[in-house]
Amino acid sequence: MKKTLILFSTTDGHTKTICEKIYSLLRNKYSVELISINHSESINVNEYGNIIIGASIRYGKHSHLIHNFIKSNKTKLENIKTAFFSVNVVARKLEKNSSVTNPYLKKFLSALDWKPNKSAVFAGKIDYPSYNFIDKQMIRMIMYLTKGPTDTSKSYEFTDWKKVIEFTNDLENLISSN
Ligand SMILES: Cc1cc2nc3c(=O)[nH]c(=O)nc-3n(C[C@H](O)[C@H](O)[C@H](O)COP(=O)(O)O)c2cc1C
Repeated sequence: MKKTLILFSTTDGHTKTICEKIYSLLRNKYSVELISINHSESINVNEYGNIIIGASIRYGKHSHLIHNFIKSNKTKLENIKTAFFSVNVVARKLEKNSSVTNPYLKKFLSALDWKPNKSAVFAGKIDYPSYNFIDKQMIRMIMYLTKGPTDTSKSYEFTDWKKVIEFTNDLENLISSN
């Protein structure tokens, strides 16, 4: 069985934490590697039978590095098993937390004209104390407008870990079918 790559893009570390959870659930059964998009130059896509990509949203966009990685490897990705998930806080809202309803995920995949075998959206984390002044005010304003938490002395984690585990179970089916 060929190796599985979990590739992530994160700014504040939460997408990495989600990928570490997925990695810890898969590593005892499969050959899995966890790599940051910042080290993508070391990746030879041909080595993998499955690639799982997780990326967070910042000011409406996923990292251009992830976008470019998918774009430049699209043909190869279409010949193996793939999964993509987006991490954002809009997904804390029930009506925006699926791959069919989350605007960022839909826009990203459609811009790339890419259909991974599996896709998902996970609600992320707001960690006000770690943000710089401008980011803190911007996020606070977005939270105020969308009826989210505005106490900048606190952190709020919206991630549904049960959903992450269910997604990982689906990944196991994907890997096993390869
Ligand atoms: C400066 C900043 C901008 C953000 N912009 C958005 C946004 O436009 N839409 C959204 O849903 N979430 C937004 N978020 C929330 C992040 O997607 C969320 O914090 C996520 O957990 C970050 O994951 P990461 O730590 O892996 O980067 C933003 C967060 C920060 C700090």
